Amino acid sequence: MIGDIRTFRLSADTRIKNFDCGDEDINDFFHHDSYDYSEKLLSVTYVIENEEDTLAFFSLSNDKIAQDTSNKAAWRKIKKRFSHTKHRSDYPAVKIGRLGVSQKYGKQGLGTQILDFVKNMFLTNNRTGCCFITVDAYQQSEAFYLKNGFKRLNPAEKIKADDTILMYYDLRELK
Ligand SMILES: CC(C)(COP(=O)(O)OP(=O)(O)OC[C@H]1O[C@@H](n2cnc3c(N)ncnc32)[C@H](O)[C@@H]1OP(=O)(O)O)[C@@H](O)C(=O)NCCC(=O)NCCS
Repeated sequence: MIGDIRTFRLSADTRIKNFDCGDEDINDFFHHDSYDYSEKLLSVTYVIENEEDTLAFFSLSNDKIAQDTSNKAAWRKIKKRFSHTKHRSDYPAVKIGRLGVSQKYGKQGLGTQILDFVKNMFLTNNRTGCCFITVDAYQQSEAFYLKNGFKRLNPAEKIKADDTILMYYDLRELK
C-alpha cells in the first residue's frame, strides 16, 4: 500500500530509505551520486517516500535545445513551433537527468504523476522561461515517455544497442 506520501528536495541530511527501481545505474546514482550532484549544483533531486520506502525519485537540470547540437531536420521542427517569434539559436529546457520508480510501487501510475508534476512545475511555477522538458530515454522506457506525450527529437536517427534516445515535451501544448 502506498499510504501517506511526501515529496521533498534531497539535501545532505536526507537518509534514503529502501529503494530499487530495477536499474543498477539509476539505483547507484540515487544512493551514491545524487548528494554530490546536489552539492555541486549539477542537478536537484526530488524524493517521494512513504513511512517505509522511497517510492520514486527524479533529478532535474537546466538544459537547452540548440541549433548547433541538433540535426537540421530536428532544428527545423523546433523552430517551426515558434513561427511568429524572433529566430533564436537555442530554446530553454529542463532535463530529467534520472527518474526511477521503485519496482514495489511500479505500474500504478506513479511515473506518469511525476511527469505531470514536472510539467506543471515548469509551466506555472517556474522563475525563468522554459519551453521544453528533455530526457535521454533508455530504449526500454521510450514507450513510457511516448504515452506521456514526449517525442523523439531526431525520429530518423538510427539507435544502436546501448544508446539513449533524446526526447522532448513541448510545455506550450498545455497552455
Ligand atoms: C520507466 C518507469 C519510470 C515507469 O514508471 P511507472 O510508475 O511504472 O509508470 P506508469 O505506471 O506511470 O506507466 C505509464 C504507462 O507507461 C507504460 N510503461 C511504463 N514502463 C514501461 C516500460 N518499461 N515499457 C513499456 N511501457 C511502460 C505503462 O504500461 C503505462 O501504460 P498504461 O497507462 O497503458 O498502462 C519505471 O518503470 C522505472 O523506474 N524503470 C526503471 C528505470 C528507468 O528506466 N527510468 C527511466 C530512465 S530514462
